[in-house]
Amino acid sequence: MRQPNRRLASLPGYPLAELPGIKRRLIQAGRDIIDLGAGDNDMPPPQEVVAAMQEAVTDPAMSKYGFQQGLPEFRVSAAGYLERRFGGAVTVDPVKELLPMIGSKEGIAHLPFGLVEPGDVAIIPEPGYQAYLGGAVLAGAEPFIVPLRAEEDFLVEIDALPEVVLQRAAVVYLNYPNNPTTAVAPLDYLERVVSACRRHEIVLVYDNPYCDLTFDGYVAPSVLEVPGAKDVAIEYFTLSKSFSMTGWRIGFVAGNQELIACLTKVKTYIDTGPFLAVQRAGCAALDEAERLVAPVVETLGERRDAAVQSLQAAGFAVAPPRATMYVWIPLPEGIRSAEFAKVALEEFDVLVLPGSGFGPAGEGFFRIALTVSAERLTEGSKRLGRALNALQGGAVETRA
Ligand SMILES: Cc1ncc(COP(=O)(O)O)c(C=O)c1O
Repeated sequence: MRQPNRRLASLPGYPLAELPGIKRRLIQAGRDIIDLGAGDNDMPPPQEVVAAMQEAVTDPAMSKYGFQQGLPEFRVSAAGYLERRFGGAVTVDPVKELLPMIGSKEGIAHLPFGLVEPGDVAIIPEPGYQAYLGGAVLAGAEPFIVPLRAEEDFLVEIDALPEVVLQRAAVVYLNYPNNPTTAVAPLDYLERVVSACRRHEIVLVYDNPYCDLTFDGYVAPSVLEVPGAKDVAIEYFTLSKSFSMTGWRIGFVAGNQELIACLTKVKTYIDTGPFLAVQRAGCAALDEAERLVAPVVETLGERRDAAVQSLQAAGFAVAPPRATMYVWIPLPEGIRSAEFAKVALEEFDVLVLPGSGFGPAGEGFFRIALTVSAERLTEGSKRLGRALNALQGGAVETRA
């Protein structure tokens, strides 16, 4: 049998791929697994969005191909959301500067197929969302991995990268509020990034799925707020996280017109756009985003506080994140994240993601998702403390 090509073979296994199988096996064996793995909230989608979907599916017109144009109202709702959400600083033409997507992952991964030439470099932060690496490498780019370091606030300083990389770089991927580190980006940082990308003619792919999931009064910016950003940037948004709609597969991308046209053309050859009924329901979500996201943020904030307090009590040196639905937790020196995650799951019944699953630069950390109740997070944190204790040579006390 012909083997997968070198590009595919060069990619590591997807970090989440084998976890559902292990979890299923343990649950079948009667174990009470607390799953803090995937960023897939336990909350239901908003009731009015479900109602809009129910109505939309009864309209035969919604069962037709959407093509890349999709539902014009969805484009208008998405552009309206951006304008409201970023205080008027982000205005886009819903037809030329915006594109509906089947969730943001596909659009992120598909863009480089229309953008990179063989030998071009893609600047990829690590740890990071794996679709940046996957899309860029499958499209033939050479990845240049930039480790995100806690002492640098997990920011990528483009001007500090080697000149030879900057000369060959076609694209850089940035994501703040960041998965998995939970780092946020100040506006003056985004200004530096836009300026560097303009000078070096690098496409700036800004991934902003967590912009509405922020705490303690923090408001996350859009890179498109920066004057001149639209010359070099496109920004990805999704309804997955804010509206608990991961399975619905709906998102959109906005920004530079040529980049939108490039992605549109690529997708014309690959897919036929999101289900029109989902786009209609998406309007119901985006038009009422402020009201609908508020309870999600409130619940995530309570969960964050419960998780951070109980993790600290269990011996982890963790600070409360200002955004996202995750906590990124440092491990004591000498404990490998994959080993910690294995012991946590197999001995203590808690599923967490090892930092190394987000690339080698994620070593020394693990990620939990705030996707279960505060009570379960508190119980999960206690169990994680026991796993830590066991690995540090403390009393081996398994499932209590
Ligand atoms: C940083 C980041 N970008 C993009 C996505 C993709 O989300 P979706 O494809 O559901 O829109 C995720 C999902 O976890 C993510 O964490």
